[in-house]
Amino acid sequence: MLAQQTIDTIKSTVPVLEVHGLAITKTFYSNLFKDNPQLLNIFNHTNQKKDRQQTALANTVYAAAVHIDNLEAIVPAVVQIAHKHVSLGILPEHYPIVGKYLLAAIKEVLGDAATDDIIDAWAKAYGVIADVFISVEEDLYQATENAGGWRLFKDFTIEKVVEESEAVKSFYLKPADGEKLPVFKAGQFITLRTQVPGEEFLMNRQYTLTDGTEDYFRISVKREDDVTPNGIVSNFLHNAEIGTKVDVSAPAGVFTLVQNDSPVLFISGGVGVTPLQGMLKTMEGRQASFIQCARNENVAAFKESIEQNVAATDGKYKAVYSDLDGYVTKAQIEEFLVPGMEVYVCGPTAFMETVIQYLVELGVPGDKIHYEFFGAAMALQIK
Ligand code: HEM
Repeated sequence: MLAQQTIDTIKSTVPVLEVHGLAITKTFYSNLFKDNPQLLNIFNHTNQKKDRQQTALANTVYAAAVHIDNLEAIVPAVVQIAHKHVSLGILPEHYPIVGKYLLAAIKEVLGDAATDDIIDAWAKAYGVIADVFISVEEDLYQATENAGGWRLFKDFTIEKVVEESEAVKSFYLKPADGEKLPVFKAGQFITLRTQVPGEEFLMNRQYTLTDGTEDYFRISVKREDDVTPNGIVSNFLHNAEIGTKVDVSAPAGVFTLVQNDSPVLFISGGVGVTPLQGMLKTMEGRQASFIQCARNENVAAFKESIEQNVAATDGKYKAVYSDLDGYVTKAQIEEFLVPGMEVYVCGPTAFMETVIQYLVELGVPGDKIHYEFFGAAMALQIK
């Protein structure tokens, strides 16, 4: 438990830190990687370059600080992040390093305004927050192992490649040790880690599992146009030969279908279709409708199987192609809504902000709206 005085100091400094949040986290990352370049084997360099990770970490630390006397309030967010952390192999010994550089960055950016009392209070708060993460993550590692999964990474081989659309290929991955794979829930992801030729550090990417059995995992990857830095891994995979070795973590992630009898509406933007089409295959007697947004028909991955699966549940399907029709509208979404519906949204952040805003305006209750971001969590702004 933190002393009341510490809590008061934390709360009184939150507004100041919020103003300087991005500067602090940028300073933090730049110093962290300068002194600990080996950590670049864990972090996604694209997210760093686009400030995504900086914003996500800053938002989380401040959210935690605001709720420092009631950390229960941030547990759902912690659990989501913890799934990402365990899929990347984050361990307790990483936390003191991050804490040290975060405090040093606060000091560097705030200068004299960061008194010893303030730094001391934040050091204590970071310790409390880190302990919550460490314990949630240890529980997850243990649950994964108990369910037939593994800690950290395992060697896999690309066994088969299937072209799904102009831009998307599916990769069938088999464990090199021939062991049986654990059951996963539709919507969960793995981290794929690989050494791309010519790159100094290992690259990590999270991919939704689009299919799988006890013998293989399938991921479906969109090839990004720009090769540096965004598309390094997707281009590597799209050019990879059968037999290429990659490291894979056990399935993780909380963006899965809520099990009840309610009808479901899936709304996907671009490659956000991947987790949603997986969930659609597990409807078991529930009605499902689908709005698939994509640039055009050539890049609308899984379209045929989605249409078939939606028809099998007696639901409706609509494709919205931005090249032809513009972006999905509130009126189009309204046509698909029925009372009691659970709505799942997945796509780029701006797409999700718009769609979720529409759903809220259309009266869909917050607990019926489920979403997952590509990129870093907690970067979403809903007005
Ligand atoms: C991702 C917060 C500690 C490594 C994230 C995300 C948040 C976050 C909000 C984004 C989650 C998402 O994308 O869904 C925190 C907080 C920490 C903490 C509040 C301390 C209390 C650590 C530590 C490490 C670490 C100790 C390891 C050195 C990562 C990595 C990612 C990540 C590699 C994935 C982001 C990327 O590669 O772009 N963290 N984190 N984090 N975190 Fe942490």
